[in-house]
Amino acid sequence: MNAQSLQSPSKEIALNFKLENGKPSYSVSYKNKPVILSSLLGIYLKDQADLASDFTVENTKLSTFNESWKPVLGEQSSISNHYNELAVSLVQASGRKIKIIFKAYDEGVAFRYEFPKQKDLNYFVISDEKTEFNLTGNHNTFWLPGDYDSQEYPYLENKLSEINTDKVDKNNGIALKSIGSNFRIQSPLMMKTADKLYINIFEAAVVNYPVMHLDLKPKEYKLTSNLVPNAIGDKAYLQAPCVSPWRTIMVSDDAREIVSSKMILNLNEPSKIDDTSWIKPMKYVGIWWEMHVGKSTWDYAGSQNAQNTQSQELLPSGKHGATTANTKRYIDFAAKNGFDGVLVEGWNTGWEDWFGNWKEEVFDFTTPYPDFNLQEIADYAKSKNVKMIMHHETSGSVANYERHMDRAFNLMKKYGYPAVKSGYVGRIIPRGEFHDGQTMVNHFNGAARRAADYKIMVNSHESSRPTGYSRTYPNYIAAEAARGNEFNAWSTGNPPMHETILPFTRLLGGPMDYTPGIFEIKMSYYDKNKKEQVHTTLAKQLALYVTMYSPLQMAADLPENYERYADAFQFIKDVAVDWDDSKYLEAEPGDYLTVARKAKGSEKWFLGAITDENPRNTEITLDFLTPNKKYKAIIYQDGKTAHWEKNPINYTIKTIEVTSKSKLKLALAAGGGTAVSIIPIN
Ligand code: NOJ
Ligand code: CA
Repeated sequence: MNAQSLQSPSKEIALNFKLENGKPSYSVSYKNKPVILSSLLGIYLKDQADLASDFTVENTKLSTFNESWKPVLGEQSSISNHYNELAVSLVQASGRKIKIIFKAYDEGVAFRYEFPKQKDLNYFVISDEKTEFNLTGNHNTFWLPGDYDSQEYPYLENKLSEINTDKVDKNNGIALKSIGSNFRIQSPLMMKTADKLYINIFEAAVVNYPVMHLDLKPKEYKLTSNLVPNAIGDKAYLQAPCVSPWRTIMVSDDAREIVSSKMILNLNEPSKIDDTSWIKPMKYVGIWWEMHVGKSTWDYAGSQNAQNTQSQELLPSGKHGATTANTKRYIDFAAKNGFDGVLVEGWNTGWEDWFGNWKEEVFDFTTPYPDFNLQEIADYAKSKNVKMIMHHETSGSVANYERHMDRAFNLMKKYGYPAVKSGYVGRIIPRGEFHDGQTMVNHFNGAARRAADYKIMVNSHESSRPTGYSRTYPNYIAAEAARGNEFNAWSTGNPPMHETILPFTRLLGGPMDYTPGIFEIKMSYYDKNKKEQVHTTLAKQLALYVTMYSPLQMAADLPENYERYADAFQFIKDVAVDWDDSKYLEAEPGDYLTVARKAKGSEKWFLGAITDENPRNTEITLDFLTPNKKYKAIIYQDGKTAHWEKNPINYTIKTIEVTSKSKLKLALAAGGGTAVSIIPIN
């Protein structure tokens, strides 16, 4: 049989597989409308004939799968994994075999290449994967340039035909940029068609394989996979039996279906950690924003200019942030306000020339600066019932980090640190590797696995973007891997639409450590000459705790700023970070998002609504609440004259009584938001 089709459980999505002249291809439709036109599939090998042609179909097999599973931490306590599957076994005249496995979910389709164990395909090197996505028209897109080292860009919104990396503002605060082509973009790629279909192209379970970028033919609306090469230009080293990551295409006429989809997680292996009792959600504060705003420094001498120090002399000048006394101040603040953890950056030696020199031995991850007393801090934190979060900035020297990793984790165990924030700023060592290549993917996943051996949770910054591996290693609790709030402190920042796009892109792969909660919006507060600012209102910073799902959430601003706005800070103190249920009430990529979530093991709900640069009025029905129950709703909203640029700190707070029959009228300012705590009374 040279053609075979597969339908989603709802029957709304259809995938057709075809073999024509020995070449495999597929197409996808949604409610009988084409979504992906006939597109070729194939793998090319180094020094061997390709696995893209000369095939015949050996057999095809249809099956159905329907189960639910419980994530350790998540947006909902139970996730349903329901799909129909088509497995196509292909064989070449030479006898070499591959399988292509297609899955159709209600929110989209996924497929992967399987390389079964066989005589004539054992060790092999992938020189290219040519998976095509032929789109049906000139869709609107939210895109990032296909940079092999960074996703820390603001999104651009363009039609497919208008995409060109020349449009990217290169003066955007990103330290290391590796853009190889004007027409290469990243996945996840979020699109909207002229007839209002939402389409998302991404991948799941990137394990022992490079990240997939997308090469665009702008006039033909055609995308082709582009695998990130290693230092010598190869893509992946594999041994059969093995599999590629899943290539995913989500589609719906309702944007909420995409933003709430758990398809990427579902396509990953179940947890490989048996005892997960030590994996805990965390709300934290830290010695962090004060460095980003220039109040203190990571380096001991305090002569840092945000990047490297002016002087290499280790003479303290009083500007070092990570001192024992300052850490105790944050521990006190965390304890007083019910936070779980305190992060301290700049605690260890090496920040004098930490990145930019491609230097191999920068940090040893074990030697504190003389003014940071590990034992005293560990004892103090313990006495206050606060957990410490370790910081491992590798500055891209991964070879060095791997050599020190066990000692570094042992040190954490000795002083009782349950979580590490790792960082990968700068060019990678082994030299020539990109952040998104197979070697680095293996490092990021491997670091999470090694951390699991020590019962340590990981939050990686500047890693490749997650593709659902946190299902398999739930201690990989969060990652940054996108443009976070920090860019607002020292660069052109994140435009007001930024946070309305991330949930449709980056967050599909796993939680993001966005570090919301900045109240002192304008950096001129710290230095009157500074023009930088957070591109939201204060109320929107609160709403982000709900719209930007993560079981690890930072209250990123300085304790003294929270004390000045104690009434608004109450929301951050109250909001949950782990959930029984999540309802995506309104969603439009690039425009707005409204989410309500029920706290894990509690009757409390939290609602977050955000908008882009346009003000927005909306009415929300609270019919998700338990009927006949009374709640008090504390509403944190933009003030009458609030505006992200002109008047960002203008907010009001009011408390009303609500039931499942109530409707809430929300008025969001330009760049604004609303946050609501809904707490049962009876
Ligand atoms: C970039 C990270 O995203 C940020 O959170 C951190 O403070 C700096 N690198 C220094 O490690
Ligand atoms: Ca970063």
